[in-house]
Amino acid sequence: MEFSIKQGTPDSMKSGCVVVGVFDGGKLSKAAQALDKAAKHALSDFIARGDMTGKAASTLLLHKLNGIAAERVLLVGLGKAGELSNKTSLEIIGATFKALNATAAKDAALYITDEGVGKNANWVIKQAVLTAAEQAFRADGLKSEPTKPATLKHIVFATLDKPIAELKTTLEQTAAIANGMELTKTLGNLPGNICTPTYLSAHALALDKAHKKIKTTVLEEKDMQKLGMGSFLSVTRGSEQPAKLITLEYSGGDKKQKPIVLVGKGITFDSGGISLKPGAEMDEMKYDMCGAASVLGTMQAIAEMGLKLNVVGVIPTCENMPSGIATKPGDIVTSMSGQTIEILNTDAEGRLILCDALTYSAKFDPDTVIDIATLTGACVIALGHVAHGLFANEEKLAKELLTAGEQAHDRAWQLPLWDDYQPLLDSNFADMQNIGGRAGGTITAACFLARFTKEYRWAHLDIAGTAWKSGKEKGATGRPVPLLTQYLINRASAK
Ligand code: BES
Ligand code: MN
Ligand code: ZN
Repeated sequence: MEFSIKQGTPDSMKSGCVVVGVFDGGKLSKAAQALDKAAKHALSDFIARGDMTGKAASTLLLHKLNGIAAERVLLVGLGKAGELSNKTSLEIIGATFKALNATAAKDAALYITDEGVGKNANWVIKQAVLTAAEQAFRADGLKSEPTKPATLKHIVFATLDKPIAELKTTLEQTAAIANGMELTKTLGNLPGNICTPTYLSAHALALDKAHKKIKTTVLEEKDMQKLGMGSFLSVTRGSEQPAKLITLEYSGGDKKQKPIVLVGKGITFDSGGISLKPGAEMDEMKYDMCGAASVLGTMQAIAEMGLKLNVVGVIPTCENMPSGIATKPGDIVTSMSGQTIEILNTDAEGRLILCDALTYSAKFDPDTVIDIATLTGACVIALGHVAHGLFANEEKLAKELLTAGEQAHDRAWQLPLWDDYQPLLDSNFADMQNIGGRAGGTITAACFLARFTKEYRWAHLDIAGTAWKSGKEKGATGRPVPLLTQYLINRASAK
């Protein structure tokens, strides 16, 4: 999908469809007034007849109006003029693209930024780009007859007045975020028999090939052995698929600048291992690599926008499977940090691969490390499918991530990382055990990771509830690519 910004009058816009807003009670927006005048009051006639009341998220499609260059006109109800809730504004944008996608228009010119959709122009552009991309996304590529791609290919954000320069940057950045999310969703949706650790590493190498500033390295199990990654290797023991440790180094900043490291959990299928999961919805454990996929999506997005920052992606990836040689409950392993871990439940495997990847990350002399993981079912219970769980060992970092989430409308909620929870991880036989019991399961998982991240500034995002949707709409969401990319944009502009 292509996006651009163009100034001009709505009646002269050559387009498959020109989109203008109507407020509650039938009051025309400025762009709609201009159209109405050129079309000899055709719009006000429809409104007078009651076909469009301006109710938020209602739409009315009109064809071939005299005096108007576009093939179609779409009237969109904007509700009460002035500030609207995020939810209502998003409903308006969603309804607009739904109506456009129901037509055969190949391109559209949207006059929705001048008077907003109850929001400022930057917000509207961001959400419109993400919505357009979301509606164009197809998840059925593996059907013998996939649904055909969207006909709408080019979106023009049209303005009456000269658009402010900032909008162009927003547009380019959001288009890159949308592409990053598309990659994250595509990888997330792929089944475990296709999206293996080897498949993910091949994709990371493809990003290296496509972007000059990305350098990808893939470590094999024998390399991890040498590094002493006994914890990571214990998870892959039962699998026939070789584990990989992928690193992508994006060099957009100057050489001396310390990088921000993103570490993504890449379990391409989580059966639970010997602590086997129950059968119901076990298929959804193919999404257990969504942290890894969001790192790949974010790396692609920042490379596409040429962000001036150094960022490293680290992806530990393997399967968690039962077998005759799989790790057993009670087994004790030594992590790369030297700390020993008693594995009481092989289904708490995410933290076991992350702890070694986090120890490994110190070698990049990081400014900040952020890990992203579908880590705990308890996080879904705590926060549902709306907010990511957020933990940080520095308040300023937590605030920056919360703010980025608000800006990108990809929100997180902070949970405590207090020492009071640490004793729950005490073991009789090793330095720690890998589970802390049912109570506060999301917090004890984060506390486990905190034992490996003392050397640097660190945050952890638990995306178990937000990375994919279940039920009829089952599919990966592409989150938290918007939050992560926004955070990196903010960091780059603060430099
Ligand atoms: N990948 C799961 C977490 C998960 C569960 C994400 C459900 C999304 C939905 C993780 O590896 C896991 O199995 N965690 C266990 C931890 C427990 C054994 C301490 C869990 O949450 O049940
Ligand atoms: Mn598990
Ligand atoms: Zn898992």
